[in-house]
Amino acid sequence: MPVTHLREISPAARLENVRYAIRDLACIADEVARQGHKILPLNIGDPLNFDFQTPAHLIEAVYRAMRDGKNGYSSSSGIPSALDAIRGEAGRKGISNIQDVFVTSGVSETVDICLTALLNPGDNLLTPCPDYPLYSAVLAKLEIRLNTYYLNEEDGWQPDLDDIRKKITPRTRGIVLINPNNPTGSVCTRKTLEDIAELARRHNLIIFADEIYDKLIIDSQNDSENQDDDPHVAMAAVAPDVPVITFGGLSKNYLAPGWRIGWGIASGEAAVIGPYLEGVNKLLRARLCANHPEQYAIKAALEGPQDHLVEVKRKLRSRRDLTMKWCAETARVSCVAPRGAFYAYPSIDIPEGDDVFVTEVIRQKHVTLVHGSGFGQRPGTKHFRIVFLPDEKTLTAAYAAIGDFMRERYA
Ligand SMILES: Cc1ncc(COP(=O)(O)O)c(C=O)c1O
Repeated sequence: MPVTHLREISPAARLENVRYAIRDLACIADEVARQGHKILPLNIGDPLNFDFQTPAHLIEAVYRAMRDGKNGYSSSSGIPSALDAIRGEAGRKGISNIQDVFVTSGVSETVDICLTALLNPGDNLLTPCPDYPLYSAVLAKLEIRLNTYYLNEEDGWQPDLDDIRKKITPRTRGIVLINPNNPTGSVCTRKTLEDIAELARRHNLIIFADEIYDKLIIDSQNDSENQDDDPHVAMAAVAPDVPVITFGGLSKNYLAPGWRIGWGIASGEAAVIGPYLEGVNKLLRARLCANHPEQYAIKAALEGPQDHLVEVKRKLRSRRDLTMKWCAETARVSCVAPRGAFYAYPSIDIPEGDDVFVTEVIRQKHVTLVHGSGFGQRPGTKHFRIVFLPDEKTLTAAYAAIGDFMRERYA
């Protein structure tokens, strides 16, 4: 046997701040499942875990692409038919002044590339609090300190403009806006978008507009697919002069999260955003390309039938209403009604941390939620996030179990 000098391999110290509460909780759920309990998962926003299916014409497009031999690398920005379809969709949403479009392996990769291409040591980026934890994870990886702005629960979770103004520093390079929002389900008003655009102009900020849920607006009772019924307003559409990267993808609107297809639409004045886009394209080239055959679903999705959305929104509306009814009837719980996506973010009034609450609900009632502290929240407040994708029967059982838990523990 050779003499070995192997010692423990430790991870990079910068990973200390990487947190991903949604998946981290899965470890506790796994432990409970190993004890033989069936878990009711209300923690992961994957519609395919429930009664939702990827539209058949998208599957057909990918299958055909694979069969036709589209299995090599694609160009780094993406295949031309997908890029054309994304531009067309951007146009329908009123986005003009488009300077670039690129396809990525999910919006997750768009976020990683766009933040990495922007930030130098000492810079900061405004991110919402609560936020979708990918943003803080990427910032931790880049060793960029967090600079969060609050979403205002009293104002239907709209971004708190005063707080944003206060937090802008000479080293602030941009602002992230998640609309419709994860984890609150809120949708920004046009006025909020205009005010944020004005701040971006004044302080020379780029806006990252994460609009991955833009077709899942569940406000209106009208299931018509007439775009006029859809109250989602794209950030880039209200500010054609401001540098904006709009993030979109197939994971949510088109029920294909496992395909890992996302994209970025860069808009604004060419002279302003151009140099930054050269940086983005350098990174796009360095990682070769997004999944190739799956890119063939983009044109099929954006230009083909949208029938699935009628059914998806009908289900989401019914499940949102059931969730709100439970919140209204349950002591210690109150919730701003979600208007988009499939998340509710109730506030809870309990004598212990929301992380303890969530852990004990998994251990005792086998329902997985995510604690508000996993997304960030105003000091002194406590929340939990519900994914209301499961069918009404499953949700009813989950809410009954959480209600029992609260009565037993906090009576
Ligand atoms: C706000 C938000 N942005 C981005 C993502 C990541 O999406 P993708 O599956 O395209 O990587 C998610 C996934 O839940 C999300 O909620």
